[in-house]
Amino acid sequence: MAPVKLHDKTFDTYLSEEVIQEKIKELAAQINSDYADKKPLFIAILNGSFMFAADLFKHLTVDAEICFIKLASYKGMKSSGNVVTAIGLDQDLFGRDIIIVEDIVDTGKTLHNFLPKLEHQQPASLRIASLLHKPDATEFPLELHYVGFSIPNKFVVGYGLDYDGLGRNLKEIYQLA
Ligand code: IMP
Repeated sequence: MAPVKLHDKTFDTYLSEEVIQEKIKELAAQINSDYADKKPLFIAILNGSFMFAADLFKHLTVDAEICFIKLASYKGMKSSGNVVTAIGLDQDLFGRDIIIVEDIVDTGKTLHNFLPKLEHQQPASLRIASLLHKPDATEFPLELHYVGFSIPNKFVVGYGLDYDGLGRNLKEIYQLA
């Protein structure tokens, strides 16, 4: 695929549509096996995860539910850490098997701040499925149960991920040239 230009930057193809879709089938097969007798609730984090969540969900054969949430983070007046609120999380998570769906885990900060909110509701289990992971960018270590691709610490776009609003519509994933 030819490079793409978004705003002022050029991006080269990194993961093809076929490679992404194959990997998603593998992840779904693993989840189908792990949750065979369960009814997991997927919590997809907007905006970036919308394509991954949709394609992953198509390949699930277990009874599964999905909801989409948005995270807003702000500095608490007195707390030193960031406070994360989830917009659109109206399900009761008590006793549920939860799988968080993320497009990418970079520093891990977003989920590190958000997980305690979910754990507070006492789900039966809590796992993370992320299409991409940048291990070299880790600042807040997390246990990631389902990872599509571990990638270098370079900015990527496409397949839901954006550069300043653009690039989400691309079927492939591109890396900053
Ligand atoms: P973290 O909190 O540092 O793990 O960052 C997670 C969020 O940062 C992701 O959900 C993305 O929205 C954004 N992000 C991190 N790296 C990239 C990238 O390479 N391209 C596009 N968005 C990114």
